[in-house]
Amino acid sequence: MKQTFYVTTPIYYVNDVPHIGHAYTTVAADALARYKRLSGYDCFFLTGTDEHGQKVEKAAEAAGQTPLALADQVVERYKELWKILHISADDFIRTTEQRHYQAVAALYQKVWDKGDIYLGDYEDWYCTPCETFWTQTQLANGNRCPECGRPTEKLKEKSYFFRMSKYQDALLRHLEETPDFIQPPGRYNEIVSFVKGGLRDLSISRTTFKWGIPVPNDPAHVIYVWFDALTNYITAIGFPGDQKRFERYWPANCHIIGKDILRFHAVYWPTFLMSAGIPLPRKVFAHGWWTVEGQKMSKSLHNVVDPYQLVQEYGVDPIRYFLLREVPFGADGDFSRAAMVNRINSDLANDLGNLFSRALSMVVKYRAGLIPTPSDLQPVDRGLEEVSKKILPQLAKQLDDLAFNKALTSIWELVNAGNKYIDETAPWALAKAEKDQPRLGTVLYQALEALRIIALLIAAFMPTTAEKMWSQLGMEGNLWEQNIGENGKWGGLKPGSKVAKPLPLFPRIEA
Ligand code: MSP
Repeated sequence: MKQTFYVTTPIYYVNDVPHIGHAYTTVAADALARYKRLSGYDCFFLTGTDEHGQKVEKAAEAAGQTPLALADQVVERYKELWKILHISADDFIRTTEQRHYQAVAALYQKVWDKGDIYLGDYEDWYCTPCETFWTQTQLANGNRCPECGRPTEKLKEKSYFFRMSKYQDALLRHLEETPDFIQPPGRYNEIVSFVKGGLRDLSISRTTFKWGIPVPNDPAHVIYVWFDALTNYITAIGFPGDQKRFERYWPANCHIIGKDILRFHAVYWPTFLMSAGIPLPRKVFAHGWWTVEGQKMSKSLHNVVDPYQLVQEYGVDPIRYFLLREVPFGADGDFSRAAMVNRINSDLANDLGNLFSRALSMVVKYRAGLIPTPSDLQPVDRGLEEVSKKILPQLAKQLDDLAFNKALTSIWELVNAGNKYIDETAPWALAKAEKDQPRLGTVLYQALEALRIIALLIAAFMPTTAEKMWSQLGMEGNLWEQNIGENGKWGGLKPGSKVAKPLPLFPRIEA
């Protein structure tokens, strides 16, 4: 039986439409999922939407809609974007689905049965017009609401609490025993010191608004939106009804999230699971945030980057490539058109695009499109093979570390080696003399074979480009049924098969 791999994105709030930050997390998870499938794993990749809570309730009110009607609309936007970006998710979960209500109630019940939930008083600063509680540190200018600027007041309400404090030691032990539980390491340290600073019990129900999953046995309360939302990760794989499927995929191999929601995933979620007696996810990876042309992305600055528009302007694969290549996953990055155009022109159009069209047009021109048989390999030919053999194992490790930018840099070692190889072997010169024909065949074969492997390796990152390369190289068989370990070995290209006339992979973009 295949080994399983379960990867998730956060579920996105429906009070806003998707932007480049959301696209980033999902593209990264997609690249990982595709890579794992191409490496022979039975991979389950989950994304979805987080539809309850006060924020959504308010956004709906402002739009004169019911929360569910608003969610229905925004969900379509997300689904459409994932289609455009070629996201290969296996499921799209909505927290308003029946299966999720059941899962949340079941998880709550397990925690309740453990004796970890009690009724208490929740006290904090309340903004009546906004109907929102704020903590002391969130308040603006004295006691004012950070959202509307009006004065807040101390208010008390009844709330159910989760005994999170009880799990402080167990969580700390888990962190110490499993140092790669939270990544990158800087984030791990952050969480360790937060937990060492002491865990307080957590309020997990609200009575000040209605849009949520009712607390079992006390429907005056709705379940806190993070308790609800985090449960999505187990709902989608069959909790609580389908034990077999649940055990097949749980614990998740990797929750990919943004750094802003780390505490929920690295502290709240594990303690809920500990209380319920469910194993913890293997890894939580917090990526960095994108600024735009040096500024924070925000509606009020009118600089929110719309992924639909970007795709229309630049195409899907260049955007996927840019997002994963430009900054190390985990670090913050700046999105600028100049940087993007630069990457597309240099790495994609010049390096990869050129290599592909040069090699393919020469085999069309000199060999009527038929892949030649290589013979008498020289050191320069072996050199190209060596690069390919070297990067394969590197890549597996880089993907395990979610070091997407390093993985792409490794693949580009082969792209660059391919271009250098053609420059050095000068097939156009070999084509002139009859005696050099066997040598020309070898050179063309080696160059095309490098491209076949490149197609396989970039498939997770740029699926459409890889498919185009695969079919233009005349490869039989579905690209997505290949196995990188097996089919990534040198020599898979069949002499005698026919390539297609090359079509440009990436048009150059005028700055
Ligand atoms: N609904 C919660 C997640 C619940 S998961 C159980 C949520 N939703 S969100 O829509 O606000 O954000 C989703 C993701 O988008 C987060 O991982 C967040 O880090 C990411 N990003 C939002 N803006 C971003 C940038 N400017 N840059 C990079 N990622 C950003 O939080």
